This record gives sequence, C-alpha cells and structure tokens, in this order.
Amino acid sequence: MKINGKPYRSIWREASGEVRIIDQRWLPHELRIVALSSREDYAVAIRDMWVRGAPLIGATAAYGVAGQMGRDPSDASLSETWEVLHETRPTAINLRWALDEMERVLRPLPAAERAAAATKRADEIADEDVEINRRIGAHGLALIREIAAKKPGKPVNILTHCNAGWPATVDWGTATSPIYHAVEAGIAVHVFVDETRPRNQGAQLTAWELNAAGISHDLIVDNAGGHLMQHGEVDLVIVGTDRTTAQGDVCNKIGTYLKALAAKANDVPFYVALPSPTIDWTVVDGVKEIPIEERSDREVTHVQGRDASGQIIQVQISPDGTGGRNPAFDVTPAALVTGLITERGICRADAAAMEAMFGDLKAAA
Ligand code: MRU
Repeated sequence: MKINGKPYRSIWREASGEVRIIDQRWLPHELRIVALSSREDYAVAIRDMWVRGAPLIGATAAYGVAGQMGRDPSDASLSETWEVLHETRPTAINLRWALDEMERVLRPLPAAERAAAATKRADEIADEDVEINRRIGAHGLALIREIAAKKPGKPVNILTHCNAGWPATVDWGTATSPIYHAVEAGIAVHVFVDETRPRNQGAQLTAWELNAAGISHDLIVDNAGGHLMQHGEVDLVIVGTDRTTAQGDVCNKIGTYLKALAAKANDVPFYVALPSPTIDWTVVDGVKEIPIEERSDREVTHVQGRDASGQIIQVQISPDGTGGRNPAFDVTPAALVTGLITERGICRADAAAMEAMFGDLKAAA
C-alpha cells in the first residue's frame, strides 16, 4: 500500500539483503523504519509489538530464521531459533506455521545450503501472504457488491475491529482487502473503526491506513458497535483472526466476541477474513483449547497518545493501586460467524465446509 504516494510493505528485504520493518509502535504519529538483524532483534520486534498482526508475525519469524541461518546454520541453531521465536507471542498460529514451514524446508539440507534456502523461503512466505490477501479481497468484493446492489446510491457500512489491515500482514490486509478492492471497483464504502482498547490498534493503525488511502471512515469507541447495529447503521462486519480452529471457532483481538454477539442479535452478517495459514487444524474447540495471551495491566490502566509538543506519552486513567486483567484475545464460537472469507472463496464456519475447501491442507497438517 502507499504512504504519501510511495509503495510500502510492512516488511521487506533491501537489495543489500537487509530486512526492514515499519516500527508500528510509533504510528500514526511517525513513520519509523528499522532494520532487523540478530535473532534477538526479531524476537524483541515480535514480543514488543514493533510488528504485530498474525500474518506479519509469521513472515517476520521466517526472516528471523533466515537471518540466523546466515550466522549459524547448524542443527542446534535451527532448533534454538524455532524455540526463541516461538515463545514471543502465544496466540497467533501463523507464528508456528511459519517456523514449521522454515523447519520443513531447512532441516533436510546440508548446513552450507541453509542460509540461501531460508532467505528464498522467507521471501516466498512474504509474497504468498500478499497473494493470499489479494485473493481474500477479490472474494470479499463479491460479498460487498451484493450488499451494495441492495442499497443503490448509499454506501455499504462496514464495521471492523482491531487492525487486520495491511500493517498486520505483508500487504493488503485481510479484513481490509475486500474494502480496498471494493473502493477500487467504485463501490461506495464507509468503515466504522473500533478503537480497540487497550492498545488501540483500530485508532492508531486502521484509521491511519484508511486515512492514507482516502477511504471514508469514522473511529468509534468499542462500546458503540452494538448501538450502531441496532439502528441499522452497519451492513456488514469483517474482522481478522489470529487462529481459527478446524470447526470454525475464531480467535481474534479481545472484544471481537462481543461484536459477534451484537451482530447475531441484530441480524448483521459477521464475516471473518481468514488466510489458510491461520487455520489450526490441531484444535477443534477454540474456547477450551486456544492459549490466550495475557498482557501487562499497564495497557489497561494507562492510555498512550501524543502531547502538544509531539512527544508520545502514557497517561494513567485509573486510581493508584487499581490493577487490571488484560486478556489480549477472545474466541468467537463458529455459530456466531456468518462465513469465512478465504483465499479460495467464502466458506461456512463449520468442520465439513472447511474440510471441503481445505482438505489438502488438513491432510498435510
Ligand atoms: O495483538 P495484535 O495487534 O497482534 O492483534 C492483531 C489482531 O487481532 C488481528 O485482527 C489479527 O492478527 C488478524 S491480522 C490480519
């Protein structure tokens, strides 16, 4: 996607071989580009959310393995790198998927061949992510087009949660890809952006990217979605996912479940943009089986913003001595999901439909 007319991905390799990322902690205030080099750099960038979003976490881990293979391509180094990067964040399955994929390609090779093969596979994983998201956009476009046809002359109002946009992937985004495709196709779209406390990825990232793309949007507080749905102001919800189970339970940013409940109660279609590497075929019951990341309660008791001088500051909003609970994700049971927008088409969120669409991937998992 473009920033000030210049095309960017969220992670890329320079001609020199250096891997660079957009350090998302500074958005929307500042576009900071940083280079990642050591294995520790990659681990910190994922753990401390310089990069975030399930597909981007996976691509970053793949480049982290590639970097380490350039330093030490031994068996022990490969195993240790898998462990070090895997423990950075627990919920998004793309992390394990990418590490397993690197392991599958690299383990059988002689050590001397691993660095080049790792770089090639990491580049492919990044490129494949872009193509998957482009296809999700094309399938989601058909859905938006159908809704647009029923309300001529009026915009299709789409609500989204967190940031499942291009900064969360290598490019296009998952939930935002249908929106970008619809706008390119000349369909009028308006996006309600949940701020997404505690870290405000909606306010800081989704609003930023829609603003940069000139797409009509309103930032809303997390509690406003139900009200807007009750009053017929939302035609469609599209969210992303960090891990979707074999029966279609969807784990995503905390608060997604409440939006799904509100959508169900108000007959608003609730779709999940799902790239296939985000399916965890080993897990069936998402509520019972998916590990949910618990983050510092400081994210709850404080909010981050910018002061008048441009400094990024954190402001305490609760009394001294009040603690918090901060589960970062929740699980929306499949029964609340209208459909999954995947790179192969739109699929019902149930075991049979997912197997019919992705049987080859399930068998290989
Ligand atoms: O904690 P984050 O910012 O990594 O959480 C991101 C999300 O929950 C996204 O919705 C999800 O990763 C899908 S990204 C295409």
